[in-house]
Amino acid sequence: MRIYRVKDYKDMSRKAANIISAQIILKPDCVLGLATGSTPIGTYRQLVEWYNKGDLDFSEVRTVNLDEYKGLTEDNSQSYRNFMNQNLFNQVNIDKKNTYVPNGMAEDDAAECARYSGIIRALGGIDLQLLGLGHNGHIGFNEPNDVFDMEVHCVALTQSTIEANSRLFASADEVPRYAYTMGMKAIMQAKKILIAVSGEDKAEIVKKAFTGEVKPEVPVSILQMHRDVTLIGDEAALSQI
Ligand code: GLP
Repeated sequence: MRIYRVKDYKDMSRKAANIISAQIILKPDCVLGLATGSTPIGTYRQLVEWYNKGDLDFSEVRTVNLDEYKGLTEDNSQSYRNFMNQNLFNQVNIDKKNTYVPNGMAEDDAAECARYSGIIRALGGIDLQLLGLGHNGHIGFNEPNDVFDMEVHCVALTQSTIEANSRLFASADEVPRYAYTMGMKAIMQAKKILIAVSGEDKAEIVKKAFTGEVKPEVPVSILQMHRDVTLIGDEAALSQI
């Protein structure tokens, strides 16, 4: 694993954007696995800036997102589809037809999970997967469990995730209780993984994740088994390792 220890959120964002843009330049039709949350916002902003300068071309890029809340329509301001449109897709020359996010309004969970797995398979897997990290060790919405969930699945969010994510909703009651998420198989089969962490509040889980035992109670710890992981963390988030 490669670790970049950077000063702060801004440096983390620039470094992550550097790696993503290198991927796009090396393989213009690459498949990017993308994440939501506060962590990647600065990274997307930096990519948009470089696109506006003429340094990046997204016209052939394909993207597949990690997850989506169940029960939110695409245009709901809290949906991850909306997040991606606002923060990246609407601001660059990507073809929206080449961007995939699970359908939060699907009626049949099993069918939606099978459909999304089929999309990832048809894309030929992921070249570079960007990840953030939940305080309880989740990646995507792979919550702590007694087994690693390998396939795309519909998951009941834990109370701690509902509380953590309630900051973006009017109240905790409004946070959806379920989500669709990519499983560990698609994440672990990505050729490269880039995980970004920022802030003191992530320091403890970063330590467990990368220096502790590999176990499904700490889902992110599975990354220790991947051969090409880059961790970019600011000083606060890496303060315990
Ligand atoms: C959400 C997302 C994750 C994300 C995590 C951390 O629950 N499903 O993909 O990594 O939160 O979010 P943040 O970056 O805001 O700390």
